[in-house]
Formats: sequence, structure tokens, C-alpha cells
Amino acid sequence: MRRVLIDDVEPGMILGRSIFSEANNLVLAAGKELDPQYIKRFRELGYSSVFIEEKGFESVNPMEAISTTTRTVAERAVLDGIEKMSNAIRMKTETESISREMLQEQQKVFSLPNSNELSLAVAHIVRDVIESNVTLVDVFAELTHETYIYRHSVNVAVLSVLLGRKFGFTSKQLRELSLGALLHDIGKVCMPRILGRPKRDLDEDEIETFKEHPVFGALIVKNTNPSLFTEYFTVLHHHEWQNGNGYPQGLTGDNQPPTRSGQRPSEKIFRFAEIVSVVEAFDNLVNGYGELPRPLTPADALGTIISLSHKRFNQNVCHAFSQIVCLYPTGSLVQILDCSQPKYNGFFAVVKEQNFDSTRPVVILYADTEGSRVKPFTLDFMDDPRLRLRLMG
Ligand SMILES: [Fe+2]
Ligand SMILES: [Fe+2]
Repeated sequence: MRRVLIDDVEPGMILGRSIFSEANNLVLAAGKELDPQYIKRFRELGYSSVFIEEKGFESVNPMEAISTTTRTVAERAVLDGIEKMSNAIRMKTETESISREMLQEQQKVFSLPNSNELSLAVAHIVRDVIESNVTLVDVFAELTHETYIYRHSVNVAVLSVLLGRKFGFTSKQLRELSLGALLHDIGKVCMPRILGRPKRDLDEDEIETFKEHPVFGALIVKNTNPSLFTEYFTVLHHHEWQNGNGYPQGLTGDNQPPTRSGQRPSEKIFRFAEIVSVVEAFDNLVNGYGELPRPLTPADALGTIISLSHKRFNQNVCHAFSQIVCLYPTGSLVQILDCSQPKYNGFFAVVKEQNFDSTRPVVILYADTEGSRVKPFTLDFMDDPRLRLRLMG
């Protein structure tokens, strides 16, 4: 299969990966033929690309760090928590606005009623990541306006666990990191006006409210289970900056690696939060929920993160993250700008699989410089230092 931009999708194409709408309702299953109605629906849902089955690309099969079942279990758990808490908040308040004091006083009301479901989701995620052997972040679920609030949380949890594994965390630490990551934005549930909206769309008042979400989220975690210390600090500190310019407390970091046994002074940013901070910014940038209104390519998003390392993000985390991000995701369309066999310069190809060096993947060439189809053939660029590719979508 290959990834096709939504504007290039045509009726008659065969869907390669199933498409879901909000709350994980199936819109169209993999293997079905597309018609104009479905293409319109995908666009309405906010998908910018879909996977298509096509002759010549049967061997292209993007690997995922977690199974579809695990993703479904995790997304349901987060969505369930959000919905149940939202209902509780609506029942308790007429204005839908809640103060910190209310959260502190009414611990039972403002707590997650489905902590078992969330623990199960976390166990699934950690097990899948450990077993999957995926070392590069290849495909992660695309966000749409309807799925953002829970899908972003699951993406962040998966990427965080991959990073935690790289830093040698124990299984227990990975579960704590994963739960903290899943709940990092849960505080937004107390702010229905801004829930699901990107920060760039908010007015000044709304931004002040937005900046409270780490505190509200941490209180929800504490109300749910007071023994969740690591998760509490992960949620509370995920918008703090290394140089102290973050919020809510303006804590500083020391840019040290967040290793398995590394303990930090308590006045510094909690190390799990430093991981979540990088990962959640990346997920927002590649999905168009960051500072810019359009999605960035993985390479551009990574470049943005690296440019903010040391000041905003822990530089060790950024470095580790740059080693697990796939710049040319499997299934995506690329153009060869330069390579050791100049006759292929300008050709178009689909990324077949990743090499250890993610800048030099294995590709299937399928069109010449004019875009005319050629018989598809495979080229492995692992040992080509001249290779330069352009991601086309
Ligand atoms: Fe956040
Ligand atoms: Fe977030």
C-alpha cells in the first residue's frame, strides 16, 4: 500500500487501512473501493491522506508500535474518562467553569472513574512497544478535529514509551510514564470552551485559562489516586521549559538525560514530563495542531524541536528523539533529488521500509522525472551517502 494525499485520492482506488470517525466508529474498512461520497467524508473528518492498495506496492506494509486492538483499548479508555468527567462537571456546575478549589474540595466528583480501564490500556501499550521491536516511529494515527483529544493522548503515550525504552526505563517506569502521557492534557476537560481547540486559535483570556490545564490535570490525577506521584508531576510539568519560561510554575531543567535511575532535585522539571513535552509538541506539529496552522513534515517538525532544544526542551531528550523519528514514513511518496546513480535523479518513489539510518530508506521507484509510470523496482539506499529525498506527502 502507499499513502496518498486526500486531494489525489480518486474514486475506484482501494482503501489500504480502515478509516474511523469520532469514538472509533468504522467509516470504511480496508479493502473497500472508494467512491466520491467516502472521499468527501474523509475530507470532512479532517484526514489529509489515506493508505491505498495498489499493484506494485503490495510489499509496502508500515509497521506500528502498537496493535490496532491496543490503540482501540487505549483510545476508548481516554475517551471514556473524558466523557464521564465532562458529564460529572456538567451536573455539578451550571456555568461549566470550575475552580481549583472545587477540584480540591470535591475529590470524588472530579476524579477519573475508569482507572482500571486506563491501567489496562497502559499495560497493553507497554507490552506492545517492548514486544514490537519497532525502533523508529513510523506510522502514528493521524489526528482530526473530532479525534484530537483522545488520539493525541495515545500518540504521546506510545512515543513516550519508545523514548523511555531508549533511556533504559524499567517496565514499571514505562507504565508510569505511559499513564502520565495518556493523561497529560486531561485538565482541559475542566475547560469545555477550549477542549480540542489548538492554542493558536484562542484569544488572550482563553490562553490564560489554557495555561491552567496542567494544574487542573494534576489535581484530577491526585483525586483519582493520591499514590500516583510520578503521573502527577508528569502532568503538572509538561509545559515547563528548561530555561524557566514555561508554565505553570516557571521551573527550570538541567538538560541532563532522564535515565532510569537519575533522580533530580524536586524543584527541577520532572524527567518524565521532559519526555512528554518533546513528544507532544512533535505530535502537534506534524498534525497541524502546533503553532502553525498547517501540518509539518516529520523532518521540519523535528527541525523545529531541535531549534528549541536546550532552551525549551531537554537537549538529551531531543537528541534521543531524533534517533527514533522516521523522516520518510513507510508508504509515503518521495522524489529523489540526488543519489549515487544520477539516472534516477528526479524519479518518484514510495518508501518501502526503513533502514537503521532513517534518512536512507529502501524505496520502490515507480515514475520518471515527468511523472510517467515505469515498471516498479526496488532500490536500497542504505549505503548511499549522496542521497537526498523530498517528502511529497
Ligand atoms: Fe498540554
Ligand atoms: Fe498535548
